[in-house]
Amino acid sequence: MRNFIKKITHPFLKFGLKLYYLKPRTFCYDGICVKVHPDVFPPHLTLSTTVLLDFIKEKELNNKTFLELGCGSGIISLFAAKKGANVTATDINTTALEFLSENAKKNNQKLEIFKSDLFQSLPNRTFDCILINPPYYPKNPKTIKEQAWFCGEHFEYFEALFPQLKNYLIPSNETFMILSEDCELEKIKAIASKSDIAFTLVLEKKVVGEKNYIFTVTSS
Ligand SMILES: C[S@@+](CC[C@H](N)C(=O)[O-])C[C@H]1O[C@@H](n2cnc3c(N)ncnc32)[C@H](O)[C@@H]1O
Repeated sequence: MRNFIKKITHPFLKFGLKLYYLKPRTFCYDGICVKVHPDVFPPHLTLSTTVLLDFIKEKELNNKTFLELGCGSGIISLFAAKKGANVTATDINTTALEFLSENAKKNNQKLEIFKSDLFQSLPNRTFDCILINPPYYPKNPKTIKEQAWFCGEHFEYFEALFPQLKNYLIPSNETFMILSEDCELEKIKAIASKSDIAFTLVLEKKVVGEKNYIFTVTSS
C-alpha cells in the first residue's frame, strides 16, 4: 500500500497527472464516452474501472435495478444502463454528478442520479445489483478529489459503509466490491466482519503488475 501512495504522490507522476488533467478528458468503453472533469476519479489512468466494466459486460443486467455507489465519471453506470439495467448512480462529488448528467444525455441513457454520502440520501429501497469501487488508501482526504482515493486514516469510509450496506444485502441481491493487492485487505475484511459481512473472491485479475480482486459481499 505504501508503495502505491508513493506511486501516486511521486513528484513526476503528480506533475504528469496535473498536466494531463488541466482540462476535462474523454474516456470511452464499448460505445459509451464520458467527459471526465479533473476533480473526478480518472478511469483512463486507473485500472479498476476497466476491470469492473469488463466484469459487468458478461453479466445479465436487463431490467435489473443497479446501484453504483460512488460512481465518479459514471461510465460503469452508463454502460449498465446500455445493457438494460435501471440504474441509480450516487456520489458525494457534485462536479462528478453534474458531468454525469451531461454525459447521460450525450449517450442517450437514462439514470437516476443522487448526491449522497454512502446510502444516507437514497430512497429506501433494495437493488438487484450493487457495485462499489471504494477509496481504500488509509489517509485523510483533504479535497473532494482525494475522497476518490483515501478512506481516512482509520478506514472511516469502511467503518461507515458496512453497517449501512448490511441493510441492502438481501438474498436476491448481488453486491460486488473491487479491491487491490495494494490495499489492506485483511483490515477491510475485519471491519466488514463487525457488521457480519463476508467477502468471497469471484475474480482475480493482474493488470500492469497489480492484482485486482472482485469480491461478492454477503451477509454472513
Ligand atoms: C475509486 S472512485 C470510483 C469511481 C467509479 N465507481 C469508478 O469505478 O470509476 C471512488 C468514488 O467514491 C466516491 N466517494 C467517496 N466517498 C464517498 C461517500 N462517502 N459517499 C459516496 N461516494 C463516495 C468518490 O467521490 C469517487 O467518485
